[in-house]
Amino acid sequence: MKFFIDTANIEEIKKGIEMGLVDGVTTNPTLLSKEKKDPQLVIKEILETVTGPVSLEVIAKDAKGMCEEARKLAVLGNNAVIKIPMTEEGIKAVRTLSLEGIKTNVTLIFQPIQALIAAKAGATYVSPFIGRLDDIATKGMGIIDEICNIFFNYAFETEVIVASIRNPIHVLDAALIGADIATIPFNVLKQLMNHPLTDIGLEKFLKDWESIQK
Ligand code: G3P
Repeated sequence: MKFFIDTANIEEIKKGIEMGLVDGVTTNPTLLSKEKKDPQLVIKEILETVTGPVSLEVIAKDAKGMCEEARKLAVLGNNAVIKIPMTEEGIKAVRTLSLEGIKTNVTLIFQPIQALIAAKAGATYVSPFIGRLDDIATKGMGIIDEICNIFFNYAFETEVIVASIRNPIHVLDAALIGADIATIPFNVLKQLMNHPLTDIGLEKFLKDWESIQK
């Protein structure tokens, strides 16, 4: 299972790389807006810092505009992946970009059929947002299972990025289902390593070791 980090913060990305937990990065306009810096500079630095795929989202709403933006973003780095919203125009753009060999990540997916449509259009990745479904009292992880089944049934090469992750249980469930990738915010990435019994156990080991020192 690959771990992507869901952030545009370069310090978080560097710390995640040190932890060995960054196989790629996903950004979006909201994450870039939190940095309060020139987004072009932030994007450039991320692309240079990370060896794996970096998802960068288009802003245009029409297919022509999305393709134009995508082509400009794609030349910024050979690890650039273009994030396209799951709309009718977005799917048209994905089809065009796929034929041009530009990698895409179809975002804002909330139901399995949307993922099927994106895969048929040639998307490299799909990003179902599970946390936002949980927020409206719908079991987000249910759609991951269904999307993985659909992709398996038809041998699609499109990879599933479990997105909108809020806690370690989301990561655990995604791994149990067998999703290709989880894109994880930095705070959750850190939580993955923690358990109170680990801390208590380590404290006791060190205390006992100290007791036999002369
Ligand atoms: O990368 C997009 C996705 O992970 C958004 O998450 O927390 O804004 O629903 P969230």
